[in-house]
Amino acid sequence: MSDAPTSQPIRIDAGGWGLSWVADDDGRLHQLGLGPEGHTVPLEVGAQWYPLAFPTLDGTDPFRPPALQITHADGTLTTRLALTAVERDDDPSGSHVVVRTTDERFDLTVEHHFRSHPDSGVLEQWAEVFHVEDGPVTLLAHDTLALFLMVPDDAELVQFGGAGWADEWRWSTDPLTIGTTVLGSLGGVQPHLQRSPCLLLSPAGPFGGPDGAVAQDEGEVIGLSVAWGGNSHLTLDVKPRAELDAPRELRLRAGANALGAPYRLDPGVRMVLPTVAWTWSTTGRDGVTEAFHRWSRDRVLRDPDRLRPLVVNNWEATFFDFDESRIVGLIDRAADLGADVFLLDDGWFGTTHPRDDDTQGLGDWDHDVRKLPGGLAPLADAAAARGIRFGIWVEPEMVNPLSELHEAHPEWELRDGREPRLHRHQLHLDPLQPDVRDFEVGVVDRTLASAPSTSYVKWDANRPITDPGSRALPTDRQANVWFDHVGATWDVMARVAEGHPDVELMLCASGGGRVDHGTLRWFHEFWTSDNTDPVTRVRMQWACSHFFPGAVMAAHVTRWGERPLPFACAVALSGRFGIDLDLGAVSAEEDAVLRRAVAWARRTQDVVQRGVVRRYVSPVEGPDRSRAAWSVHGDDGRVAVFAFQLDEPATSAPTLRVRGLDPAASYEVRATDLDGFDETSTATGAELTDGIAWPLDAPLTARLWELTPTDPA
Ligand code: DGJ
Repeated sequence: MSDAPTSQPIRIDAGGWGLSWVADDDGRLHQLGLGPEGHTVPLEVGAQWYPLAFPTLDGTDPFRPPALQITHADGTLTTRLALTAVERDDDPSGSHVVVRTTDERFDLTVEHHFRSHPDSGVLEQWAEVFHVEDGPVTLLAHDTLALFLMVPDDAELVQFGGAGWADEWRWSTDPLTIGTTVLGSLGGVQPHLQRSPCLLLSPAGPFGGPDGAVAQDEGEVIGLSVAWGGNSHLTLDVKPRAELDAPRELRLRAGANALGAPYRLDPGVRMVLPTVAWTWSTTGRDGVTEAFHRWSRDRVLRDPDRLRPLVVNNWEATFFDFDESRIVGLIDRAADLGADVFLLDDGWFGTTHPRDDDTQGLGDWDHDVRKLPGGLAPLADAAAARGIRFGIWVEPEMVNPLSELHEAHPEWELRDGREPRLHRHQLHLDPLQPDVRDFEVGVVDRTLASAPSTSYVKWDANRPITDPGSRALPTDRQANVWFDHVGATWDVMARVAEGHPDVELMLCASGGGRVDHGTLRWFHEFWTSDNTDPVTRVRMQWACSHFFPGAVMAAHVTRWGERPLPFACAVALSGRFGIDLDLGAVSAEEDAVLRRAVAWARRTQDVVQRGVVRRYVSPVEGPDRSRAAWSVHGDDGRVAVFAFQLDEPATSAPTLRVRGLDPAASYEVRATDLDGFDETSTATGAELTDGIAWPLDAPLTARLWELTPTDPA
């Protein structure tokens, strides 16, 4: 349905919260309301008195960077947009509202799209820009959104990310200080290794109470995720107000990071800016978590109802050093242990340049005849004969200079006019070249065709973009590569997903370098981090699970950190469980631990992958970060509870008060440490909510509980 432009407010009901915009007499849009009542607030004064909804460089707010800055075809630097149309489509799953604005002087249109999903409370917002000026325009800033909030001076933000490889999802709570804070990522590929495109914000005060403890299920929290597989940014621009003790003004902009990459947009071409998905919870971080999990399942994930498999991977067991008999031996052990999938990682290909390490062979996707004389088929057959599935690793976007591919197609590199820099001894192929995209799709097609029962693929990408430039782009559009490589790569991924609908895909980029809700659309799960030290993983998974459900957060047991195996298994069981150990070299005692873990996974992974998360003890905030505890609640009333003692405690032990239970219901309570302790008792919901005494005192120990209603309704 299409409405004429109107002076009536445009109201977006996001499900329990929302926003309103209103046009002034010049058609310029202002933000009338935002937050829990944001979609219903009345217009009390003239529209022009409300903050701008989407500031462009137009002279009205000269002291802040604009959300949109365009140099027009004739050299004009300013953009003045006025409302021209509002369209609204409602369907049972929500509504799609398009707010169309056009420049006063140029034939340039910016559309703001809002897709609500009231079931989850997550709003998808994106913008589209197109024009028919006399030549290309240049976008120097092109944000998806620009929210305006009044925040107290003790408001806080949580950002995620550390030093790069193996340091994803490092939690950091910071004050919202006056000035500009940019949470930006660069590098084009793997940007999420530095800074996740996700953010938590407390608009009404600090997250924690006076003692630093955070009530996980209370308070207002904004959660925001830029669904973009390239450089992104979240920019928080905070200004004081003239009056003492008055709230501060926050302008929050988010979208693709245009830093150093002015985008040339031709007439007649539509530029679709990244979707930002966001929610405003009034039930704390638990509310943000539930909203993002529900929305991810309904609107992002492939095959959301399919239980993710128990994967055994050989990477940390063998690295590049294996042959057919070693892999068949591992397949044997994986099947015997009860795995669903055996995944063969890097090192299986390369003929003239065999892939014995990471210096060569990438790009040559024929099997290495020395290691695997019969190719992949005998391995896939061996897996099938033992009742499990076979999976394979590929890195289709990359090439080693030492490869037949590079010898044949040096012009396929993503590079500028200089000699490109190597990273991990490899170069990036240029996805803007159609032949390269066909080649990349072909890598997966050919690999799968060589062993047709293969039904799982791990897709890796092990270097950032360092030498931006593309032969497919004209000289004056070279900077477009930063934005356009994302769409081109998504095109390849979409073709692979569509071509192999029954093959499960794991998304990986040097670990969790591509963990975003945009790229995830073509994948079933992601490799959360190469860092599998269980102590670090508890903290990473705690952070990551605010935005992504357990189903997609692959967590494997490894030897990283040399932690006790029962503890490592317990941590992996809190995500999509898998194993990356040399199964031929585990002791009988370790084998028993693994079998207990696999049995626990079989009983609880449906709950862990799809359930509602409730958080109790944070391992990343407050005076004592030595413990962690949370629970996951299935639709059928079953609950998995996790408690971890990571370090020497600094405070007295907490009591675990399990929320979300029916007080009158009876539960069978089965507790284990995966190390020999396994006890079953019964309790009512009220008793469990009253509290479970913290059972752990030694560092590197875990306790897992399964709660099963004995009198299901
Ligand atoms: C990086 C990934 O994160 C690892 O799991 C492994 O697949 C290696 N690449 C292989 O080169």
